[in-house]
Amino acid sequence: MVDLITVDKENRVFHLHNEQLSYIFSIEDGDTISHLYFGKRVKSYHGQLCYPRVDRGFSGNLPGSLDRTFSKDTLPQEYSSAGEMDYRVPATVVRQKDGSNGLMLKYKTYKVEEGKPELAGLPAAYVESESEANTLIVTLEDEKSGVLFDLLYTIYRDYPIITRSVKVKNLGQENVNLEKVASMQIDFSQRDFDVISLPGAHVNERHLERQKLGYGIQTFGSIRGTSSHQMNPFVALVDSNTDEFNGAAYGFALVYSGNHAFEIEKDQLDQVRLLVGINGYNFNWQLPAGESFQTPEVLMTYTDNGLNAMSKAFHNIIRDRITRSKYKYKERPILVNNWEATYFDFDEDKLKPIVDEAKELGIEMFVLDDGWFGHRDDDNSSLGDWNVYEKKFPQGLKHFADYVHSKDLKFGIWFEPEMISMDSELYRNHPEYLMQVPGRQPSPSRNQYILDMTRKDVRDDIVDQVSTIIADNDIDYVKWDMNRNLSDIYSQNLPADRQGEVYHRYVLGVYDILERITSKFPDVLFEGCSGGGGRFDAGFVYYMPQSWTSDNTDAIARLTIQYGTSLVYPPSMMTAHVSAVPNHQTGRVTPIDTRGAVAMSAVFGYELDLTTLTDEEKEIVKKQVNQYKDIRKLVQYGDFYRLQSSKDGNKTAWMFISPQKDEAVVMVCKVLAEAQPVLTKTKLYGLDTNRNYRDVETNKVYGGDELMELGFYDPIIRNDYAATMYHFKAE
Ligand code: DGJ
Repeated sequence: MVDLITVDKENRVFHLHNEQLSYIFSIEDGDTISHLYFGKRVKSYHGQLCYPRVDRGFSGNLPGSLDRTFSKDTLPQEYSSAGEMDYRVPATVVRQKDGSNGLMLKYKTYKVEEGKPELAGLPAAYVESESEANTLIVTLEDEKSGVLFDLLYTIYRDYPIITRSVKVKNLGQENVNLEKVASMQIDFSQRDFDVISLPGAHVNERHLERQKLGYGIQTFGSIRGTSSHQMNPFVALVDSNTDEFNGAAYGFALVYSGNHAFEIEKDQLDQVRLLVGINGYNFNWQLPAGESFQTPEVLMTYTDNGLNAMSKAFHNIIRDRITRSKYKYKERPILVNNWEATYFDFDEDKLKPIVDEAKELGIEMFVLDDGWFGHRDDDNSSLGDWNVYEKKFPQGLKHFADYVHSKDLKFGIWFEPEMISMDSELYRNHPEYLMQVPGRQPSPSRNQYILDMTRKDVRDDIVDQVSTIIADNDIDYVKWDMNRNLSDIYSQNLPADRQGEVYHRYVLGVYDILERITSKFPDVLFEGCSGGGGRFDAGFVYYMPQSWTSDNTDAIARLTIQYGTSLVYPPSMMTAHVSAVPNHQTGRVTPIDTRGAVAMSAVFGYELDLTTLTDEEKEIVKKQVNQYKDIRKLVQYGDFYRLQSSKDGNKTAWMFISPQKDEAVVMVCKVLAEAQPVLTKTKLYGLDTNRNYRDVETNKVYGGDELMELGFYDPIIRNDYAATMYHFKAE
């Protein structure tokens, strides 16, 4: 049943609605699609509240029209193109055979359907039954070139989410070149917005940045070939008074792992345009007559209940309808990873005592990180040679895997499948697999190079190699790493005039191998990673339910990283480990309790040499492991609320609450001790005001309303970096 989309044929108005949202647009003069509204649900649109007509100087009019009050340059539109007298940044630029790049997009037709179509070759939100969403496809046409744009809108019944994407079809006689195709556009009439984004760096990913939106065009994006550590594919437009619990917030997240652009323009009339899609940098897609091009998808949400509500909308849709792995609702195992324990300096004999200790401490999985293959003793060789390094595993990898399994632990392994070292058999046999511009020396990064994932022979080779290792060694978990960004953008398999397709074809190639490998091994738990969180996006999670959040394992740095990451991504997707002190990235010494509390706020594990722990530390680790097993379901699958960020003071606080509101876990971390402490309080959120809650540790009982309205005093700390976890259960 199509009951989430109302089409008023007479007035040519489209209204997508569920209990929470409305999205409305209409067809105006010149068959132009005009955006009317996106926000809180309204019952119906009566057609009166439309965009006023005003004659504006230097904003011209429709070809052939004498009406000076109608201009595409000022009208809020659904999808704009170059050349149509809209001087704002266009959603699409299409180069035609005659060299021109202008279109005149006009409404042609529409179609509504139950459910949601899949996007060929791309990750996207899905439906589990046709009735949970409706889809509207509105077709725009440029009559002269015969190029059509299908604007796809899906609205979910039970999520405050609309998805958008665009399919371009060339029904003309000539080839055209797509120089830019945004996945969505939204125009707001006058509005003072703040923009929230998630910039960062390697070992410093996704910190929440908020700035007032000024005039001009601003782009939040990546041209690194991946979604990147530097700018996550997300922005929110919020009112200046919006905070975590109150106020309007529009959130946009791109389901894509490559170059992206979030272009925001505040125009001459204080109107705001947002475009989201593949970055136009070095993008030039040849679209021969008869072919089509599908853009990645955008998730859009709106709330007037602040940023936590926006995050909840993203968390739920990503966890429930983007993640496909059989582990999506399964409690994830507590692991120990040998990277920060040994780096490359290990062999089977050195690892076995770590496995033994892990067993003693109640840990559930051992992960063998980088260095088990080829002849890899450092990061200068062997990428591409996914065969076992005999010196480290003289009796084969299966022998070691059996040992791990004999201790009742699961066994995981690391790969970096998209990469090639020059010192590798793969390079010696297939130098053409390395992505490079003919006649130029390719640029190294970490002394490694990129495999040309646009080539099927390369992808087949990698799928074969990785599959063999997984199948032959009883692998339970795979960490899929990528330790550099793309450069030397060129594929020897494509002609000169198609090199502008390489960036996107690379991503499609990666998605192809991810699809093949993950569907071949449905029982394996996959974890994404790109030098930590360099590809932490809503596209990758379609294939892999969790991702290494950052190579920075310092608990205090992680406060900011995990806080920012939670703006879009659910805790079940974020992995976090307790590591040694002094921390390997920051040199900071933090208490083990604090390291535990921060790591337990996500998918939990350890990354240190367990055999070097003191007896006292081992007791603490045992306690942490048991504690996490107790709260794991709540942390991974409960509702998450940010309470306070240490960016705004000396404290970070967040909490997890079960959907039934009968259990909550709270983490409070004071960063620096003070001689004259200011008494701060933590007030909880989302509890049942009519129930009492018992603190599991102290047995003290509080009303839900008390904990939310009065709040509890934070401990007075006498050492820096002190975190406390509270666990409340409803009586
Ligand atoms: C980067 C990852 O993020 C680390 O955890 C580790 O796997 C190294 N790569 C190994 O090279």
